[in-house]
Amino acid sequence: MDKVIIAANLSLSYSHDETIINKVNFSINSGNFVFITGASGSGKSTLLKSLYGALKPKEGSLVVGGVELSGVTNSKLNFLRRHIGIVFQDYKLVKEWTIEKNIMLPLIINGYDKSVTKNQVDSLLKHVRLQHQSGKYPLELSGGEQQRVAMARALSHNPILILADEPTGNLDDYSSQLIWNLLEGANTQLKTTVIVVTHHIPQAMSIDYKHFHIEYGSINEVN
Ligand SMILES: Nc1ncnc2c1ncn2[C@@H]1O[C@H](COP(=O)(O)OP(=O)(O)O)[C@@H](O)[C@H]1O
Ligand SMILES: [Mg+2]
Repeated sequence: MDKVIIAANLSLSYSHDETIINKVNFSINSGNFVFITGASGSGKSTLLKSLYGALKPKEGSLVVGGVELSGVTNSKLNFLRRHIGIVFQDYKLVKEWTIEKNIMLPLIINGYDKSVTKNQVDSLLKHVRLQHQSGKYPLELSGGEQQRVAMARALSHNPILILADEPTGNLDDYSSQLIWNLLEGANTQLKTTVIVVTHHIPQAMSIDYKHFHIEYGSINEVN
């Protein structure tokens, strides 16, 4: 089984005198669906940041998609990020752009053909039940709708890996369910590896998943 992520003796910190993640070892297989839990401030977002190269390892090794992130060059990192989809709790949509254009962004960056782009965006808009809103701007949508746009955008270029940081944190049940459906669908149909930080693992999960818990700088698998 291919490993999408291999962390060996990995430590993460923002300063010399404080270590957030301390010498952890774990790996994630291609096609895994992984939940990460932990108390507020335990280092969940810090770990996700390291997985897309926004925070370099303080020590140890972190290999994502075959790329060693310790000492990675910017060009290699940009290449890797094209194969990763990221969703944050606060959406990070471009507010001057329509919903449709926001979802298109990763496809434009990856140089997709125009007809492919159009079909892909239409299909994703349907999945998140926002076909009728495609010409609107982010601030004209509710929080739940904006997060559904962010999720559609993260999936638009068929990434090998999705990283989602509390994607349903502030959402109503309806929007949360659409988000979970989309993540499950990407995992089962496209074999996308999914890593989600969440406070609540949904009860209605219809697929097998792994669960890692972060506490006191350590990461342990919960069985
Ligand atoms: N940019 C930063 N600079 C310095 N310290 C940070 C930064 N971001 C987070 N931290 C600290 O790192 C620790 C873990 O934060 P974080 O990973 O955001 O926790 P979680 O996502 O689990 O709530 C906290 O003590 C937090 O204050
Ligand atoms: Mg966080």
